[in-house]
Amino acid sequence: MSGPLVLGIETSCDETGVAVLEGMSVRSSVLASQVEMHERFGGVVPEVAARAHVEAIRPLAHQALTNAGIHPDQLDAVAVTRGPGLVGALMVGFAFGKSLAYSLGVPVFGIDHMEGHLMAPRLSFDEYEPPAVVILASGGHSQIVHVKGWGDYEVLGGTIDDAAGEAFDKLARFMGLGYPGGPAIDRDSTEGDPTAVDFPRALKDRPFDFSFSGLKTSVVTYLEKAKDEGTLPERADVSASIQEAIVDVLVEKTFNAVEATGVERVGGGGGVLANRRLRERFAEEADRRGVGLFIPETSLCTDNGAMIAGVAVDRLNAGHEGDDLRGDVDPGLRLGA
Ligand code: KG4
Ligand code: ZN
Repeated sequence: MSGPLVLGIETSCDETGVAVLEGMSVRSSVLASQVEMHERFGGVVPEVAARAHVEAIRPLAHQALTNAGIHPDQLDAVAVTRGPGLVGALMVGFAFGKSLAYSLGVPVFGIDHMEGHLMAPRLSFDEYEPPAVVILASGGHSQIVHVKGWGDYEVLGGTIDDAAGEAFDKLARFMGLGYPGGPAIDRDSTEGDPTAVDFPRALKDRPFDFSFSGLKTSVVTYLEKAKDEGTLPERADVSASIQEAIVDVLVEKTFNAVEATGVERVGGGGGVLANRRLRERFAEEADRRGVGLFIPETSLCTDNGAMIAGVAVDRLNAGHEGDDLRGDVDPGLRLGA
C-alpha cells in the first residue's frame, strides 16, 4: 500500500459515511445509517437527516481513524461531499471537513457525490481504468456516463423524470413494502416470477435515456384494476415484474452506450447497483459480449465515505492542491455541467 492518507466524509442524504484511504486502498470505512429514523415517515426527512449527521459525524470520524490505526496528524488531506444532495445534510459534513482540514493544516477537497460513485469501482478493482461506460443509479440520479479519462466525463444520458432508486422507493411505498424500497423489492422478488406482469419499458427511441414515471402509473393502474377484478397476483410476482422492468431498461441502455462508444469496460455505482437481479443481468450481458465488468461490492455502491476520499486521492495524484476553504456546498451540483 502507498499513496496519500485521505479522510473522506459523505453526508449528502441519509447515511453518514467516513473512511480513510491510503492511495486507492480502503484502510477503514464506517457508516451511521439513518434508515430506521426515516422509515416511519416513508422517506428521508431533510431536517431529521441533518440533525442525525450532527450527532454521528464526530464519533464516526474518530472511529474511522481508530479503525485505520492512524492519528489525525498523519492525514494528507480531507475530502468531503459538496453536492448534490440535501442542503442541511451537506452543510454538516462540509463544515466538519473544512474545520478538520483547517485545524490540521492540510488541504480540503469538495467532492461531487456522483463523481464519488464513478470512482467507487476503482477502489475495488486494481485493473479498472478509462475509457469505460458507467451506469450511475441511485435514489436521486440515474445517468449513463462515458468516463474518457480520470476527471474527464461525458454524460450520455439520464432519466427524464424519476431516478431508478426513486421508482423502487415510490413503488415499494405504494405496495406497503416499506423504506427504502429498493432492498425491499429486491428481497420480495426472490420468490416471484419476473414474467408475471409485463410492465412497460419506456423511451425505446432514446438509446441512453430513462423514464420511470410511466412505470409507476402503470403499476398503480394495474394493481387497482386487478384488485377490483379480484385477479391480484402474488405480491412477490408483482415485485419481481417491477424489478425486471427497471433492470431491463438499465441494462439495455447501458449496453447501448457500450456499443455506441466502443469501450470494453462497464462500471457501475449508486445504491441501485446493489440490486441482486441487476448485478446478475449485468454479469450475464458483459460475459456474453466479452466486456469487462466493474461493479464494486454493494457497500461501495451505496453511499460511503471511501468513494469521496477516492476522488481526492485522484486529484492529489494529479497535482491538485485542494479547494478554497471559503467554498460552500452546492445542493444542485451536476456532473459534467
Ligand atoms: O446511492 P444511494 O445509497 O443514495 C443516493 O445517493 O441516493 O442510493 C439509494 C437508493 C435508494 O433509492 C434505494 O432504494 C436504492 O438505492 N437501493 C436499491 C437496492 N439497495 C439500495 N435499489 C434496488 N435494489 C437494491 N438492492
Ligand atoms: Zn449516492
